Amino acid sequence: MLLKDLSLIPSEGNSVPTGSLLVIFGATGDLAQRKLIPALYNLLLDKTLPKDFAVLGVSRRQMTDQAFRAQLQDGIKKYSRQALQETTWRQFERHLFYLSGKLDDPTTYKEIKACAEKIEAEFNLKGNRIFYLAIPPTSIVPITQGLEQGGLVQPVAQTLPFSRLIIEKPIGRDLVSAQQINASVGHIFDESQIYRIDHYLGKETVQNLLVLRFANGIFEPLWNSKYIDHVQITVSEEEGVGTRASYYEEAGALRDMIQNHILQLLCLVAMEPPWSLDSDVVRSTRLDVIRSLRPIVGADVNRQTVRAQYSSGIINGKEVPGYRRELGVRPDSTVETYVALRVFIDNWRWAGVPFYIRTGKRMSKRATEISIQFKGIPQVLFNKNLPQPLSPNILSLKVQPNEGFSLQIISKAPGSKVAIHPVEMDFQYGTTYETASPDAYERLLLDVMAGDTTLFMRRDAVEVAWAWVTEILDGWQRYGSKWLPEYTAGSWGPVEADRLIEQDNREWRVL
Ligand code: BG6
Repeated sequence: MLLKDLSLIPSEGNSVPTGSLLVIFGATGDLAQRKLIPALYNLLLDKTLPKDFAVLGVSRRQMTDQAFRAQLQDGIKKYSRQALQETTWRQFERHLFYLSGKLDDPTTYKEIKACAEKIEAEFNLKGNRIFYLAIPPTSIVPITQGLEQGGLVQPVAQTLPFSRLIIEKPIGRDLVSAQQINASVGHIFDESQIYRIDHYLGKETVQNLLVLRFANGIFEPLWNSKYIDHVQITVSEEEGVGTRASYYEEAGALRDMIQNHILQLLCLVAMEPPWSLDSDVVRSTRLDVIRSLRPIVGADVNRQTVRAQYSSGIINGKEVPGYRRELGVRPDSTVETYVALRVFIDNWRWAGVPFYIRTGKRMSKRATEISIQFKGIPQVLFNKNLPQPLSPNILSLKVQPNEGFSLQIISKAPGSKVAIHPVEMDFQYGTTYETASPDAYERLLLDVMAGDTTLFMRRDAVEVAWAWVTEILDGWQRYGSKWLPEYTAGSWGPVEADRLIEQDNREWRVL
C-alpha cells in the first residue's frame, strides 16, 4: 500500500511556524554544517519553511558572508537529504549571514544586535529571534549572559516578538553541573523560552512510537507486565569516536547516549497514555517513567550494569584501532564506549519486567531497535514436546537505519504435515511512503519556530535523568573495577553483557 496523500489524515498538535531570525553560535562547527543548515534547506525545498527567515552565524573565526555561504553549500552537497538545486540554493543563500566575534566579549553582543536589526529590516522580519547554542556546554552560561546584557532577550510576558533559546546536549556532566547550568540559564530565559534538544525525539520513527501505541487499539491492552516478558533497547553504532575524542573522554557512553537519547526512548515505550497532546502533559507523562526507574546504587552497579571499551578490530573489512589508540584519547583511558544495563520500572504497569539496554561505538553494525518480547504461550498443543519452546511474539520497532517495524508471529508452513515456525509481518517506511523521512533537525527547528516544546527536554526531565545516571557513575567510581572489559571492534559487545542477560535465561536479539 502506498500512502500518497498524507494530508488525508489530519493530526492534532501541528502548530504553525513563525518567521524568525536564527542566530547560531558556533556556526562554523560540525553541527551547523551537517545538520542545521541542511535541515533549513530541506524545509525550504519542502515548502514548510516560513517565507520570512534568516540565519546569522556567529563564531570566533574571521570569515565573510560569502565564505560562510560557500562552507554551508559544501555541507548541503555532502549531508543534505535532498540534493542541492542551484536555483533554490541561490534563493536560500541570500538569507545567510556571518558575524565573527569572541563569545566572552560584550561588544560581540552589541554587534549581534545591530546586525540582527539590519537583517530584520532587510527581510521584513518581525524581531522574532531564536538563539541556537551549537557550542560546548562551558559556553552556555557566558553566552546567555551576553545575550541578556546586549539587550537581545525579550521578556517572556511579551508574546511577540519572541526570544527562544535552543541548547544542545550535554547539559552538564552530572546532576550538580546540570542544575547549575539550568539555574543560570533560568535567570535569563523563562522555561517556556528554552528548547533543550534531544535529537532522538525528532526522529520520524521515534515520533511514531506514540502513534503506534495510542492510535491503534490492539497493542495497548497487551502493553504491560501481564503480557510482556521483557523489552530490549539497542543503539549500536559502527562509528568510533572520530574527531570528538576530547569531548568523549569527558563523557563516555552512559553520559553521551543513555542519560538522554536512550532514556527518552524508554520513556516513549513505557509511558502511560497522556490525557492530551498538550506539550506539558506529554512531557510530564514521559518524565513519570524516569521518576519510576529503580535506582541502581552502590555495589548494585556490578549486577545491573556492564561497561566496556573497544579494542582494535575490523569494521566493514577495514582494520580500526582500539579506543585507547584513537587520536586524542589517553593511552590509559577508562572511559566506557559500551554500556549494557538491566533496568526496572517500579510502577504498576511494568512491575517485574526487565528492560535490557545496550549501546556502543564500533559495534557490528549501525542499528537502533526497540524490541518488545511477549510472554510465551503455554507448553501444550503446538508448543508441546518440542526440543525448544516456540519463539515468543516479538514486536520490533526499527528506529534506524531500516525504518519500520515488524511483528514476529508463529505460522504454519504449507504442506500436509503441521510444521510451524516464526514469520515476520514487516512494515517499512521506505516501501510504504516512498520518500526518505525528514531529518530530526527539520522537525525540531520547525517546532521551535512554532513554539511547540513537546519534543524538547524540560528542566526537570534533564535533572531527574541526571540524578539516576549520577548514581550509576558514583557506583562505578566506588565499586567498579579499575580496568574495563574489552570487546573487539566490529563485534556485538563484551561477553560480560551476554552474561548480564543470560543469567535471566534470555538473550540479546541478533540484529
Ligand atoms: C549524539 C552522540 O548525541 O548522538 C554521538 O553525542 C552519537 O556520540 C549520536 O554518535 C548518534 O546519533 P544518531 O542520530 O546518528 O543515532
